[in-house]
Amino acid sequence: MNSTSNQLLVIFGASGDLTARKLIPALYNLYADGHFPENFVVLGASRSNLSDEDFRKRVVYESEFLKDEVKSRDKEFIKKFADMMFYTDLGDDYDSEYSGLAKRINELNSEHKTDDNFTFYLSTPPSLYEPIAKNLYDQGLTKGSGSDKGFRRIVVEKPFGYSLETAKELNAGLQKYFKERQIYRIDHYLGKETVQNLMVTRFSNSIFEPLWNRNYIHHVEITNAETVGVEKRGGYYDKSGALRDMFQSHLLQIVSLIVMEPPINASAEEIHNEKVKALKSLRIMRDEKELFDHTMKGQYIASSINGKRVKGYREEEGVDPESKTETYAAVKFFVDNWRWKDVPFYVRTAKRMPTKVTEVVIHFKTQHHQVFKNQDINNKDNKLIIRIQPDEGILIKFGVKVPGQGFKVERANLDFYYSSLSDNNIMDAYERLLLDAMQGDTTLYARADEVEAAWAFVDPILEYWAKDVNVNTYGYPAGTWGPKNSDDLIEDANGWRNPGELLTDETGYCII
Ligand code: BG6
Repeated sequence: MNSTSNQLLVIFGASGDLTARKLIPALYNLYADGHFPENFVVLGASRSNLSDEDFRKRVVYESEFLKDEVKSRDKEFIKKFADMMFYTDLGDDYDSEYSGLAKRINELNSEHKTDDNFTFYLSTPPSLYEPIAKNLYDQGLTKGSGSDKGFRRIVVEKPFGYSLETAKELNAGLQKYFKERQIYRIDHYLGKETVQNLMVTRFSNSIFEPLWNRNYIHHVEITNAETVGVEKRGGYYDKSGALRDMFQSHLLQIVSLIVMEPPINASAEEIHNEKVKALKSLRIMRDEKELFDHTMKGQYIASSINGKRVKGYREEEGVDPESKTETYAAVKFFVDNWRWKDVPFYVRTAKRMPTKVTEVVIHFKTQHHQVFKNQDINNKDNKLIIRIQPDEGILIKFGVKVPGQGFKVERANLDFYYSSLSDNNIMDAYERLLLDAMQGDTTLYARADEVEAAWAFVDPILEYWAKDVNVNTYGYPAGTWGPKNSDDLIEDANGWRNPGELLTDETGYCII
């Protein structure tokens, strides 16, 4: 296990939703599981006028996200955690001078012996990343106070940019004040155990890797479906859409792990190098016909699920009633390298689908010579299904003989479930990522060139969707598997595998 140095974590945007909903509960779990160093301090910073006690009440004692813990755990145990929380008011503007903040940091640092180690967590809109970095720099807070004393790290949230150009600006803005090795770009999917397991499945088994290429794989399919709509985030989402919100970040990260070559070793640098190479090999679509044929956007419309009316996207709070923003995005693409030449990748993401699920399906080619003629024509290939969430696990579909005369073949399931490893307490994505940042491990964070390579692929699609009047936004009733014609994207196969809640559920599952 890596060691965690004494340190001080400054959270910008401390009075916001993410801090209370995700960050403090993740910190609490790390504390409860004994992952905190001896001396640890959290300093919340934002524009609200709160005292230390107010902040403790808000994020610990009265937090709806910790209420069960606060109720059931020993009072002293909770108090010890709450007493590590402090707060400082930044005034009216994040872009101001930070001498007050610097004074508070230095006082807390000497009082609590956090050894000059500071991590700055920016849970703020991206437009504030550069101003905050600059103001920290101006106070001398971005550099350690000696060659071997005190680290400085900055963690930034998604979305990282709105386009390639804005992502480059953000990178350049942060890199003016911090070195790349000090910058941690969060993609919470990388904190999921099952996403990390993609690499282990591939590179610690000699049975998959020889087949992991164009000679054996027919196509790769990735589905990310959510049952929820845009909830209270209509204002943000309407300017973003599914391609920016999910595809550019989380899904292309998954793609990079499927596509990448084996790294030389498991160091952060080598893994990042291979992921960048993978993302750069995605064939960027520039031709309008290709963009038209290989991409599809949709939007959920009102429907009734389990007898209850569900709003259409355009009725959601903060959404333009004539919005064409996609809540469904599907893209077919190719990877221009030796391993993947001519293997189509199909990736889709959407809100208001029948079930919440993320999975990768590797469809192997059918046997070149068919010995058993009465095999079900639609069900004769092998599939490897890697379930990222929920019911996390891996399933292989393979042919077995149906007992009885002759050679009737059926597909059977060979399955593994993460839940069977019950001794392991699986960390939540934010817990894992925070602990990694506290320990200085950047493996599960996105590097600047990775983020830019992902935007370089997505940008032409967004531009094409924005400018071409022929691009339809297809409606789909909330609670269904997307637009009626969504299977058209997958020619030469039987359409999308519409997964169920459980790994072994057969396709066609629907709850409306
Ligand atoms: C976020 C997106 O990054 O990921 C949300 O902004 C989405 O729109 C969420 O709902 C999905 O995360 P998870 O972990 O629930 O799959």
